[in-house]
Amino acid sequence: MIKKAIIPAAGFGTRFLPATKAQPKEMLPIIDTPTIQYVVEEAVHSGIRDILIITGRGKQSIENHFDRAFELEANLQEKGRQEQLLQVQKLSQMANIHFIRQAELNGLGDAISYARWHVGNEPFLVLLGDTLIDSTVPCSRQLIDVYNRLKAPVIGVEEVAPEKVERYGIVGGRQVEPGTWHVDVMVEKPKMLEAPSNLAIAGRYILTPDIFDCIDQTAEGVGNEIQLTDALQLLLQKREVFAHRFEGKRYDIGNRLDYVKTMVELGVKRQDIGPELRLFLKEFAGGLD
Ligand code: G1P
Repeated sequence: MIKKAIIPAAGFGTRFLPATKAQPKEMLPIIDTPTIQYVVEEAVHSGIRDILIITGRGKQSIENHFDRAFELEANLQEKGRQEQLLQVQKLSQMANIHFIRQAELNGLGDAISYARWHVGNEPFLVLLGDTLIDSTVPCSRQLIDVYNRLKAPVIGVEEVAPEKVERYGIVGGRQVEPGTWHVDVMVEKPKMLEAPSNLAIAGRYILTPDIFDCIDQTAEGVGNEIQLTDALQLLLQKREVFAHRFEGKRYDIGNRLDYVKTMVELGVKRQDIGPELRLFLKEFAGGLD
């Protein structure tokens, strides 16, 4: 049974400077909700109550976001703003959220290794803090269901255009059932011509504790960082690993254009501003040449 989730959120967010000079990229909002809140909610809606967020220097606002805010609550109470009060209180109650700081920014693999003592001997879920997935059944729940059937690590993947494989970890393997692959090879950010497929690692993983020894044995890879993908490639020599194409749409908040697209698409889906935003966009698009 998967009971714990790990959310790495320690990166610098250099692609969003200057916005991320003094605030973490995971706190950049989609309309009024920080990205990391969507990610925590996905874990919670997938049945997880224990979440470890891996942070670093300058990320205190993430901790504050999920903590009680007594003054703010008192203020909302006094003003009779019940709906907002409940919203704010809900944030500190939705899960047991723990924090640990990564001492040096040494890559995703290194960040995950900080979870070793927290997860102990159990399989666990990993959600990248800068990726949102909009789906009917939460993406993490879909992967947990595959894990429960196959009892092996499962990596959430999606097909990407061939010219985009260089941005992702890419898996290669054979399809064993519709949407599920037995993984034979994994490469972090391959050149287009060297990629084993166009199945990109989408920022959601179910991992088993044996990944930690593999991380320990992983040398620096792309960007001189300890890559989780390289550690998973080592794990492949020891046990079966599967990739699963989940149902849902992935939004990458890690780059500026996709961030704007996410804001627009999720804005249109909202009940409060959606209808007006849709009208505005139609009118605006009509004026473009
Ligand atoms: C990380 C992972 C990569 C994955 C990607 C998904 O890369 O290393 O395998 O495909 O997230 O967003 P990053 O975006 O941190 O460079």
